[in-house]
Amino acid sequence: MSRKAVANQAACVIEATGMYVPDRVLNNHDLEKIVDTSDEWIRTRTGIVERRIGEASETSGTMGAHAARQALERAGIAPQEVDLVICATITPDMPFPSTASVIQAELGAFNAACFDMEAACAGFIYALQIGAQFLYSGTYDTVLVIGAEKMSSVLDWSDRNTCVLFGDGAGAAVLRRDETGTRRGLISTILGADGRYGSILSVPGGGSKLPPTVETVQRGEHFLKMSGAEVYKQAVLRMQQAASGALKEAGVAAGDLKLLIPHQANRRIIQALVDRLGLRDDQVFINLDRYGNTSAASVIMALHEAVEQGALKRGDLFMFAAFGAGLSWAASLMEY
Ligand code: ACO
Repeated sequence: MSRKAVANQAACVIEATGMYVPDRVLNNHDLEKIVDTSDEWIRTRTGIVERRIGEASETSGTMGAHAARQALERAGIAPQEVDLVICATITPDMPFPSTASVIQAELGAFNAACFDMEAACAGFIYALQIGAQFLYSGTYDTVLVIGAEKMSSVLDWSDRNTCVLFGDGAGAAVLRRDETGTRRGLISTILGADGRYGSILSVPGGGSKLPPTVETVQRGEHFLKMSGAEVYKQAVLRMQQAASGALKEAGVAAGDLKLLIPHQANRRIIQALVDRLGLRDDQVFINLDRYGNTSAASVIMALHEAVEQGALKRGDLFMFAAFGAGLSWAASLMEY
């Protein structure tokens, strides 16, 4: 999916971003008291040092609303001007109503249509692409895209294979068409999925296949399950294919990127991607040391921080790349 097909239409641009993480920090030493692990193991295998954990009152909806409010304030856009709220999440507040509608109510964005989008850790990039279609088509003028996750709510805190990897947080972006004709915005996107790998990363219970019962809870089927090594292999392969595809489609060389903003799952996965794309280490943005894997919130939180830190400026080329359960994967090349 490239901008070629809509070359004579205005670009879809990010007007502003927002981010929210809970105050509570859980570091690797805290985890040593919960499961049989060590700070050294977690740092060397993943690069994660600490993550944020939401309080009981904090949900994907409340965190998403905080991030969205900040993005709207920075864009100077009132909640009433929002036409569409898309929330990417695998930890919705509840099966229904959508977390997007929870966020809409918190913001008072009552002129907006709302829905959730689920493509796990690739979810924000999928949602970005969906939001862009509504702008290109002229259906809507202002779209709020949010990635929000309370991963701590689906973790088995006795499983060291998974509980050390994830954290809670939210990020948001306000999308509009560029009416000035000066910005390129979203340039090319590759989305992909392979449902044959569904079982290597899932929360098997709690849906229509295994509705929650005493037995499903006793078997821990409402918790996240993962075959880490399988996911690792697919992650590197699929992100590299998606990222290379997005660059090729746009005719952009990897060396021209100011920043790669990859899904913040594991530092070694990111390094393998950087090596395969032939990028320099200063071309990649990493904040997983402080937040762990926040799934759909990961890349938009990283973009927000990259801009905050001055690592990315208006006019710079950057690329999102992500992978997650599904399996699903995605990459988007953008001019900020
Ligand atoms: N502390 C100490 N030991 C641990 C821990 C831990 N927290 N977790 C696992 N181990 C042990 C295992 O029990 C195993 O021990 P064994 O060999 O005695 O059985 C051993 O460490 C596993 O070691 P490795 O296979 O060498 O671990 P690896 O280098 O593969 O790293 C990891 C594991 C970090 C999970 C890696 O495979 C990975 O990052 N995979 C991708 C995971 C990922 O990104 N998931 C998110 C997807 S995004 C989404 O959609 C939600």
